[in-house]
Amino acid sequence: MKKLLALLLALAMVFALAACGSSEAPAEEAPAEDAAEAPAEEAATEVANKDKPLVWFNRQPSNSSTGELDMAALTFNEDTYYVGFDANQGAELQGTMIKEYIEANIDTIDRNGDGVIGYVLAIGDIGHNDSIARTRGVRSALGTAVEVDGAINSDPVGTNVDGSATAVQDGTLEINGTTYVVRELASQEMKNSAGATWDAATAGNAILTWSSSFGDQIDIVASNNDGMGMAMFNGWSQAEGVPTFGYDANSDAVAAIANGYGGTISQHADVQAYLTLRVLRNALDGVDMDTGIGTADDAGNVLSPDVYYYDEAARSYYALNVAVTAENYEDFLDSTVVYAPVSNQLDATAHPEKSVWLNIYNSADNFLGSTYQPLLQNYDDLLNLKVDYIGGDGQTEANITNRLSDPSLYDAFAINMVKTDNGASYTALLSQ
Ligand code: BGC
Repeated sequence: MKKLLALLLALAMVFALAACGSSEAPAEEAPAEDAAEAPAEEAATEVANKDKPLVWFNRQPSNSSTGELDMAALTFNEDTYYVGFDANQGAELQGTMIKEYIEANIDTIDRNGDGVIGYVLAIGDIGHNDSIARTRGVRSALGTAVEVDGAINSDPVGTNVDGSATAVQDGTLEINGTTYVVRELASQEMKNSAGATWDAATAGNAILTWSSSFGDQIDIVASNNDGMGMAMFNGWSQAEGVPTFGYDANSDAVAAIANGYGGTISQHADVQAYLTLRVLRNALDGVDMDTGIGTADDAGNVLSPDVYYYDEAARSYYALNVAVTAENYEDFLDSTVVYAPVSNQLDATAHPEKSVWLNIYNSADNFLGSTYQPLLQNYDDLLNLKVDYIGGDGQTEANITNRLSDPSLYDAFAINMVKTDNGASYTALLSQ
């Protein structure tokens, strides 16, 4: 904000000087840069906030109970989009990765030899569609899923050591002609007492509680994300040699595969972070939305259909997921590297600097903090966007919205809500 004021002052001075000294100062002395900057500054003041480009990312505006998309938020104006990843494709990959690990290691997996392959599951946020999809993906691959009204129940079971829970069932896996029982021994939403979800510390405590009462029955640890997965791995499963599976392919989790972490899923954050800022850039440039996405831009940036797709009806871009296991983890060791096909710098004359307000729902979220934000910070330079990053507390929307007191200072907005139901808290601010 200070920089913008300084710039405005500087511009005012340039004009004032030019006006006073018009007889001696030839027009060509006005630096070319100012000429290019001027329209950008005008745009920032002239465009109504409600008409500025808006991108939702990572938390798709939707009803946290039913998962139904919040189309009012998704179609707030003609330059509104969502950027995320294909939750169902990724969830299926995660479930399959765990199932294939069990099949490949069937001779050693059942640690206490009781004939039951037991797993525990860390759930991120029971009202977050990505979390729900991952719980369903694991249960469906392992045969523990129970359907309610045509959809797999994704409720946590608490503890289920005796197999009596109704939200899941005992599954069976046929491996080399033998039938094995698979049981979800325990699952819990990892929410801390202050209300923050996907909470790694809560998961670290849960595994200690679970392992102290039925540790010898736990053969697999599964988690809706790597933040929680790594807390459980570091707190218990690494020392016990129990394979632990997460999601996100954060650098620390990928490195841990060398030490027994079972695997993770890359949600192609390198593509998502690019798309998050790219849709804003395109809207600000007034060019076709496919520019630098499905169609190469003037710098040669382009994505191929094997890494993303666009769903026009939902105004949503989705990155595709890739399994990261002992086979391929060495290619994923740094989760903050930009995706090479979209790593070319835009020309600053044709794409002048614009300012963006961007928030992360929880500054302590492992994935957003250690993978997504560093990627955004790499792409903002390449796309000539000056981004103000705001980190929330993960609990209250107001903690974030209070820090968007003057939207007119920005050209565009990128929003990561605390709760997926709360799109209107932001659109109301932009409509004032
Ligand atoms: C990630 C989680 C993260 C959550 C935040 C998910 O896509 O997998 O790690 O905590 O987003 O919304």
